[in-house]
Amino acid sequence: MDVSHLIDPDRGLIRGEIFHSQAIYEQELEQIFARSWIFLAHDKMLPQPGDFIQNYIGEDPVLVVRQPDGSVRAFLNQCRHRGMRICRADRGNARNFMCSFHGWNYGLDGDVINIPHGEAIYDAVERAEFRATPVRLANYKGFIFGTWDAAAPAFEDYLGDFAWYFDAYIDRYEGGLEVVGMHKWVLPANWKFNAEQPASDMYHGEVSHASAFQVMVPPPKDAHSPPPDWAMRQLGQLSNPSGFQFASPYGHGNGWFAGGMPTMNETIYRWQEATAAQVAARLGPERVLSAGHANIFPNFMMLSNYTFRVTHPRGPNEMEIWAWSMAPVAAPAEVKEAIRLDLLRTFSPAGMFEQDDAVNWEEEQRILRGHMARKAPLIYKQMLGRARYDADGLPGRTVPHVYAEEGARGMYRHYMDMMSGAPWPDLTRRKQQREDAERRALAA
Ligand code: FES
Repeated sequence: MDVSHLIDPDRGLIRGEIFHSQAIYEQELEQIFARSWIFLAHDKMLPQPGDFIQNYIGEDPVLVVRQPDGSVRAFLNQCRHRGMRICRADRGNARNFMCSFHGWNYGLDGDVINIPHGEAIYDAVERAEFRATPVRLANYKGFIFGTWDAAAPAFEDYLGDFAWYFDAYIDRYEGGLEVVGMHKWVLPANWKFNAEQPASDMYHGEVSHASAFQVMVPPPKDAHSPPPDWAMRQLGQLSNPSGFQFASPYGHGNGWFAGGMPTMNETIYRWQEATAAQVAARLGPERVLSAGHANIFPNFMMLSNYTFRVTHPRGPNEMEIWAWSMAPVAAPAEVKEAIRLDLLRTFSPAGMFEQDDAVNWEEEQRILRGHMARKAPLIYKQMLGRARYDADGLPGRTVPHVYAEEGARGMYRHYMDMMSGAPWPDLTRRKQQREDAERRALAA
């Protein structure tokens, strides 16, 4: 299906049909999820040989496994016999995997190592032919991404300029990150609502999260004192916003307040303040505060409070969110615990901010049952025409405001490219030509 009549990123208009149509959803599974790099695991989730975790590429279950030699492999978690899951556990440690339907046995690398009565009932057991379908993997600073598509660009090229921004979330301190908690839940709304928000929408916070912020403001010393200065400065950013937004040609987006992402968690705030000089020495001064919220297309989002989450598509009207809290290894124990509790209070299924977002997304989805609602173009025009390249010490395409929709326009421009079904080499060439033309036009 041609979706170009539904999306016009140059004019900032998108029709709601893309969030509702079953046909478009099926096309997304084929053209987007099966061809993009998808987050599957972090090295710290698989410390020992035999450790495994089950994840998804779109709706396809994938088993990610630490091998005896320390490398990581991943394969479709589907038995080649009748298609049962090879492994039904979410995570664990195994020497091999036995399908619970007829007992085919798979090694840690996805190869078939035993078939009950195999020699008697098959003419010849061609093990190479029977092996589980492998996933192409890339490991970026401990974050393991996978794709089915051998023609997809190398992961570093896919990240492009976003790598500079990604590092501000994952590589702030020596030693990287460790997992301190996880949640999973299901929401009756389209996966793209949860992708475009971190890629682009900081604008909603002042209104959607107003009551949550008020509840979370730390209490004053006594009934006659105002709330602490640091917390009020954080809140002030919402009504007096300044900052930036980044948009990648591959659909990734990042947005941040010039004064840092508002947080009401004093332990995290104080630690970030105390280590700002250390981060500046490691990454440069521009990246001390450039972690706000971001999305790696299509479905891996991150927040400055060390929340990382993947949004699995579950039909046009449903998403399944998996959220990990990952704390810097270098952080003191009380900071790690504060980070874990902060996810619990903010962006877990019971978190206050998550509840606010869920109400919006569920209601948007419900309204899209209407015929006119699906046809009316939605307006994505904030900071339209204000993009610059390599300005203010920031690599790539940015706009000089945190309240902008440049990230969403970039996401949907790439979405259109992918949905066209054009092969990756054509897409990368088209993107380069587009960027070269924009840079020339801006320089003229
Ligand atoms: Fe797995 Fe038959 S489906 S052994």
